[in-house]
Amino acid sequence: MTATGSVTVIRNGPVRVLAIDNPPVNGLGAAVRKALTEELATAFADADVEAIVIAGEGRMFCAGADIREFGKEPPPDAPALPDLIHTVEASTKPVVAAIHGVAAGGGLELALGCHARVAASDARVGLPEVTLGIIPGAGGTQRLPRLIGAEAALELIVSGKLIPATQAHRLGLLDELTDGDVIDAAIAHAKTISTPRRTSDGDIEAEGSIFDAVRKKFAKKARGFEAPDAAIEAVRAATELSTQEGFAKEREIFLRLLNSDQARALRHVFFAEREVAKVPDIPKETRSAEIRRAGIVGCGTMGGGIAMSFADAGIPVSILESDDAALKRGMETIRASYASSVAKGRLSTTEMDARVNRIQGTLEASELSDADIVVEAVFESMEVKKDVVRRLDEICKDDAILATNTSTLDVNEIAAATQRPEKVVGTHFFSPAHIMKLMENVRGEKTSKETVATIMKLSKRLGKVGVLVGVCDGFVGNRMLYAYRRQADFLIEEGALPQQVDQALYEFGLPMGPFAMADLAGLDIGWAIRKRQAPTRPQELRYSPIADRICEMGRFGQKTGAGWYRYEEGSRTPIPDPEIEKLIDNVSAELGFERRTIDDAEIVRRCLYPLINEGAKLLEEGIALRPSDIDIVWIYGYGFPRYRGGPMFYADTVGVDSIYEFMVKLHEEQGAWGKPAALLEKLATEGTGFEDYADRA
Ligand code: CAA
Repeated sequence: MTATGSVTVIRNGPVRVLAIDNPPVNGLGAAVRKALTEELATAFADADVEAIVIAGEGRMFCAGADIREFGKEPPPDAPALPDLIHTVEASTKPVVAAIHGVAAGGGLELALGCHARVAASDARVGLPEVTLGIIPGAGGTQRLPRLIGAEAALELIVSGKLIPATQAHRLGLLDELTDGDVIDAAIAHAKTISTPRRTSDGDIEAEGSIFDAVRKKFAKKARGFEAPDAAIEAVRAATELSTQEGFAKEREIFLRLLNSDQARALRHVFFAEREVAKVPDIPKETRSAEIRRAGIVGCGTMGGGIAMSFADAGIPVSILESDDAALKRGMETIRASYASSVAKGRLSTTEMDARVNRIQGTLEASELSDADIVVEAVFESMEVKKDVVRRLDEICKDDAILATNTSTLDVNEIAAATQRPEKVVGTHFFSPAHIMKLMENVRGEKTSKETVATIMKLSKRLGKVGVLVGVCDGFVGNRMLYAYRRQADFLIEEGALPQQVDQALYEFGLPMGPFAMADLAGLDIGWAIRKRQAPTRPQELRYSPIADRICEMGRFGQKTGAGWYRYEEGSRTPIPDPEIEKLIDNVSAELGFERRTIDDAEIVRRCLYPLINEGAKLLEEGIALRPSDIDIVWIYGYGFPRYRGGPMFYADTVGVDSIYEFMVKLHEEQGAWGKPAALLEKLATEGTGFEDYADRA
């Protein structure tokens, strides 16, 4: 990798202004560190220079270390960032940071090494290293507590959040805010400094209880995630050790985490999140349509949530229902949902009113005629959906996009029911649609590039992460989920209990296990689908009857107070139910299984390896564009732990060859359910993994 970037002298008076110039985010790569060190030395040696301002060219001050340098061999060239920042801090001439846009990570650490910080009032600052599985490694954990106190510093470092400059100013992190030219303000500020104030000078103290409080606050989120605890340890060092010992401790922790699986996984996710918006055959310049008005068909849970997503993004939307009572109910649910956000202090009443006013309920299909996009969110049946799009095709203006929110059906068949298949696309929102950030955007055979470009842009505007996928039953997420679910059911026939399976997957880092999730979603929909599929189900393949039996008992999950678990009135806490355990025992006996002890590691392997195998099939078939897109689907749609990088990245950390061997055995035991993907076999034989596959693609 060639190091890029430079540092330019942009003003050359008694206060010399050095600007980092390394688009797009002024990352502190090796070339920048070297150039800045050299320019500082020149300025220190120049008797005409009384003070120095460090600024950034372009969009921002600096987004920190160049993440692409991490984990590379050989390690990047000197000077290392901590040494550069020590040089800045040790200067006998005042050095002031002029912050605009963003100062993040190493960028903020550089600013902390300066003797003062002046910022544009709309700037944002923070130390997001924890979100990359590391800790600030260039003095941030030692300087920030000394500047703003250990408690505030802990919160900022452990949360990894960027905060507005106004808040940072109140905390004492920034010395001055300006609405004018930040460089002028920094120069003026530099002239007022007679003796440089070094942030790392002095000792600080803190009550031990603040560390426990923060650990507790992040414990649930941080389950199995190492970086938050490591950050707490580093800040604690700032309160217990000398500055020099503290710096050494911070560096030791930073280097320990830098190449951990978790840090590599989080870097992978960082780049995957940016890659996912790029579609190889659709260049950035591709024309996209303007979405000014939207229409939704169906005012149920999905339709209402999708309408809220549009309204939240400032797009007026009409919801069409055929039944007056259903429309009233749906609109009431929307209002109640906004009102609950107001009650929780997440939304102002004015904003609630504005959003509610953007949503018009209607019984007249003609009201959708001027919409730029209409999303159908009606009952999941091919006939019903075809009927709806056929009608929309007649009513909507010629250039309107017709989107279907199907989660399983063939988008090509739906498109064929219209005269505009090039304008038909799938937009698979996840429930609850106004909260979940994932949108699987389904590209049909005839969907035009313009339609794809429009939908991908729209996802971003709605605050969602759009992942482009191809047509197949269940698309990427649900198709993989089927493989996972199936094994969970088999495991309980063989000896595990639902609570044990759920706990093992929860410990792995998923927000909940498959049985608690099924109870939350409702068991009746899956049951209806299974009954429909029963006549065509391949008889030679293993089938678990337990879920059907539970439904036959009238237990449909949380909504009926019982499902795989039982629920106390008004509570969502799953309680293991002896009645279900009896049912499971009976089914095991009927099927001839001698129940055995199954450990948590086996549960994780059994559920996740077939899921990964299905992901490999999706890549082979071109349904998913790249392994990292699948990872994004699972992180955003199903809460797969970010610090494990998503299922395909996780597969690489486990070793594709061992997953392949596992699937070969499962194939012997379960036939088609365990058949290894050809791609999995290929990668295992080559001794490579999904990352190499992505690099080659
Ligand atoms: N290193 C390398 N590349 C980076 C980068 C970084 N620190 N930050 C952003 N980029 C790249 C992105 O990958 C993207 O590249 P492509 O255009 O090729 O996709 C490009 O810069 C623009 O980034 P965004 O699309 O994210 O731009 P944005 O305007 O939406 O957001 C931002 C700007 C808030 C700064 C965001 O980019 C961000 O959060 N960056 C990461 C900040 C961070 O985590 N810094 C800590 C680094 S670790 C560190 O500094 C360790 C230490 O202590 C020494």
